[in-house]
This record gives sequence, structure tokens and C-alpha cells, in this order.
Amino acid sequence: MIRQLAVVVPAEEVELVSDRLWGLGVLGIEEFDGTSNRTGGPSGTVCLVATPDDGDVDRLLAAVPGYPVSVVEIDDATWDGFLDAWRAAAEPVRAGSRVVLWPAWLAPPDSAEPADLVVRLDPGRAFGSGSHPTTRLAVAALERHLVDAGIDDRPGPALGPRPVVDVGCGSGVLTVVAALLGARPVTAVDTDPAAIEATQENAAANGVGELVEIGHGSTELVPSASTGPIDSTGSTDSTAGSIDSTDSTAGSIDSTGSTGSIGSTGSTGSSAGPIVVANLTAGLVCELVPELARIAGTDGRLLLTGILDERAGDVATALERHGWQVAEEHHDDGWVLLDAVVRPAG
Ligand SMILES: C[S@@+](CC[C@H](N)C(=O)[O-])C[C@H]1O[C@@H](n2cnc3c(N)ncnc32)[C@H](O)[C@@H]1O
Repeated sequence: MIRQLAVVVPAEEVELVSDRLWGLGVLGIEEFDGTSNRTGGPSGTVCLVATPDDGDVDRLLAAVPGYPVSVVEIDDATWDGFLDAWRAAAEPVRAGSRVVLWPAWLAPPDSAEPADLVVRLDPGRAFGSGSHPTTRLAVAALERHLVDAGIDDRPGPALGPRPVVDVGCGSGVLTVVAALLGARPVTAVDTDPAAIEATQENAAANGVGELVEIGHGSTELVPSASTGPIDSTGSTDSTAGSIDSTDSTAGSIDSTGSTGSIGSTGSTGSSAGPIVVANLTAGLVCELVPELARIAGTDGRLLLTGILDERAGDVATALERHGWQVAEEHHDDGWVLLDAVVRPAG
């Protein structure tokens, strides 16, 4: 039996309450017209039905005081059917300029543009099919910092393979994309066991299983300015820093699956420290800024999303408080990705 929270909120507070619930850990939130739902809200209300990721609906109840709420119970079979229903409608999604996120259960593409990087993904029960704007914003940001100038007309990137840390990896979509775009090493963490399983499977299915370190937990598993692996006990090896950039596995994998280097020459003038990507929620990102900054170190970048446009200011303030600044903002359908670097001295 799955227990869900149904909460009726005024239309203008939907994003505020959704953001709060996402921050507490939910598998998903459905929106219904408040008047048509059995909770019977007045006109202009929306009923949000949220499923806690740990089954504890009381924890969510405590976060929405003052709103009309009810607890909905559905049987496991209905829930499984609901979780799988979206698969029938899933379609490939283009993200950034050349990444194509391809549902793994669809027939592979007959042909792809020569520069396309087709990533076959099955999110299982984890988040991250590519259909959400924040995932696409994060893929595009990774591409900007990792991809070679030869792919398009953008200036070239990184000074050799660059570490990427994916905090809240979900399906592993960003981890896999980063590895395929040449990031080394790639570290992924998530508090949800379903995400760990999905990330392992998707990394293996895309030929980068050996290149990524995956840990069940959060930022505490990742050493400062991390390039080191996570061990199975959850501790980190801070001495194991750099996977040698001469490693023959380093370099990116092109859309045909062969290894090669999509350019590690050229410079944007950007730093080449770790890129820490976190697609979470505004509240969680604000809370984790000190940890994310610790992992990135002074030469790193933070790619922060899962943030509604109206919460961008809160995250920017949290960054500033810790000596960071927003270098770029990218928007998609009400969501923002903040690309941040350490504020220069003086
Ligand atoms: C919005 S999903 C992002 C998934 C994927 N990275 C993407 O971009 O599509 C957020 C993920 O963060 C995980 N998460 C939530 N709180 C976390 C925390 N404190 N540390 C690490 N992961 C967390 C969730 O389990 C979920 O898989």
C-alpha cells in the first residue's frame, strides 16, 4: 500500500508548496484541479498529490500546516501501473546542442546526426528521463564546459579531462553524459537506492560503467576538490586524487561508441577544477552550498538547478555568503540553472 499526501493550495502557491515538498524528498507530485478532486477545494485551487520517497506521509503533513490535506492510499499494483504508464508515451529528448536522451526500451535510432551523442537511458524508479527542463539545462551546461570546439562554434573547453561530481544523480543521466563527454573521473551520489541501481545500469549500458564511481549517500561521501573514488563503506580516499589524464580510457566516446578525443585543447579561460552538478531543489541547494563549494574547490564550478526562477535570488545569496558568485544563468520553462564560480579576490 502506498500512502500519498493530497494538499489543496491556492493556484498562486503551487510552486512554493511543490518546492517545499520536493525539498523533503518525494518521488513525484501530481497536480489536479482542486475543485474536481475529491478533496473539494474552492475554485482557483490546485490539489497536489505527493508521494514521499520513504513512505512516511506524516513528515510531509508537518510541512504544509494550514492547508486542507488528506491522505490517499493506493494499492501496490495500481502504483506500479501508474509508475510505468509514462513509458508508453516516452520520446527521445534533445538536450544541449548534441545530446539525445533515448528511452532504452525504444528501438535505437535508424540514423543520427554525425555529431549527436545518443545516450540510452532507463530511469527505472529514479528521476531523470530528460523530459524535465532542469535535466536538460544541466546537460546543456555540462556540454558547454566539456565539449570540444570542433563540435560547434563555441570556444573550446577544458584543459584536459575534467572531474565531474553529480550530487543527486537520479537515473544517472548527467553522470553518463559527463563521462561520454570526456569528464574524468565522474563521481555520482544519491540518497535514493533506486537511483544508485539506475545509475549503475545506465552507466554500464552506455559503456562507461568502469569510469564512474557511484555512492549511496550525499556530499559527505565526496572528498574536497574531489577526484577520488568512493569506497563501499561510504568513506573516501582523499589520497586517490587524480585518475591520470594519460589513462588510455580517458577521452570521450563518440556517438558510434568508439573512443577518441573530442578535443581537450583550447581554453575558455575558465577554470579546470571539478564541475559539481546538482539538480535538487532551491532549498536543498541553499543548504548544501558549503558542501558543494568544498567539493568544487577554488578552481571548480557549480552547476545548480532544480531551482524555480523565483528562487534564483535565494540561491545566489547563499552562494555569495560562501564567497561564490553566479557567472551565468540559463532558463527553461520557469526553471533556472545557475553556473557559479568562486568570487575573485578584491
Ligand atoms: C531532481 S532529481 C535529479 C536527477 C538527475 N540528476 C537529473 O538531473 O535528472 C534529484 C535527485 O536528488 C536526490 N537527492 C535528494 N536529496 C539529496 C541529497 N541530500 N543528497 C544527494 N542526493 C539527493 C534524489 O533522490 C533524486 O534522485
